[in-house]
Amino acid sequence: MKKRLPALLLALALVLGLVLLFFLLRREGPAPVADRHVPIVGFSQLGSESGWRVGNSRDVIAAAQRAGVELIYENAGQKQENQFNAIRSFIAYQVDVIALAPIVEEGWDNVLREAREAGIPVLLSDRYINIGDESLFAGYVGSDFLEEGKAAARFLMRKAAGMARVNIVEIAGTEGSTPAKQRASGFRDTLGADERFRIIHSVSGDFLRSKGKENMRNILARFDEIDVLYSHNDAMTLGAIEAIEEAGLSPGQDIIIITIDGEQGAIDLLKQGKINCVVECTPLLGDLIMDLAQRLARGEDIPRVSHPKERVFSEFDEDVQRIPPRGY
Ligand code: AHR
Repeated sequence: MKKRLPALLLALALVLGLVLLFFLLRREGPAPVADRHVPIVGFSQLGSESGWRVGNSRDVIAAAQRAGVELIYENAGQKQENQFNAIRSFIAYQVDVIALAPIVEEGWDNVLREAREAGIPVLLSDRYINIGDESLFAGYVGSDFLEEGKAAARFLMRKAAGMARVNIVEIAGTEGSTPAKQRASGFRDTLGADERFRIIHSVSGDFLRSKGKENMRNILARFDEIDVLYSHNDAMTLGAIEAIEEAGLSPGQDIIIITIDGEQGAIDLLKQGKINCVVECTPLLGDLIMDLAQRLARGEDIPRVSHPKERVFSEFDEDVQRIPPRGY
């Protein structure tokens, strides 16, 4: 009997230990923090060329914090090559999702194939790409740029009712980028075959304020009869307005000004009558991006295209003076 006691105690301890382990393992409630997986999103931003872009970056960073997503933010300073490097670094880091705001539409095949091989879904934000295999990205979230161009033209058709001739100069965005291409074609498609409207000059201002001003100076020196400036973003418009005023002309009266984005600075000039129409293009895409990225991180499908709600502000609105602060 004396000899069996240690063996019995040992067996009892073993059984107690197993029971304890069983209850520990089937404990309910949230997993400990260390076990929870925080989604990691690598965001390749194309640059900081405009107030719009700066607002977009700020919004994406804030939305990631709100959503509890770990964001790796890389700004490419307007160089596609830097975006390739950023995407490759995200792949090496094994992020859950890559969010890409592509500077231009062409040239993404190889790097997106590398992301696919690494099993990382890619979400396009803001701009679109032109690629042979569209399955190399999961979806797109951003504005409907074609509609923006059409809205700009619809405003002009209303404004120009009764005008016999409408000479238009266009300062376009970055060559090869989705907004530059679609804002140009939506505008032209809608003006259609009405021969009163003539685009007498079109030049790229790369979405930069400095180039907006420089281009407008050159345009004013070269053309005498300009009725309309159609500018693809507010930054270039603000620069162009400086040039128009330096030439002794009144923007909004001597020249009809149509711009796209809806930055605070442009809305302020709309209220002063120096801009006639602002087509909204919102940079506040952060929450949408985070929602879609989290769904992708969970392995869910997302819509191919998601557009935010946008509107047009113009001198025809009754409530222009009451437009609330824009936040960018
Ligand atoms: O892609 C969106 C465009 O890029 C915005 O209109 C412009 O301001 C930005 O630089």
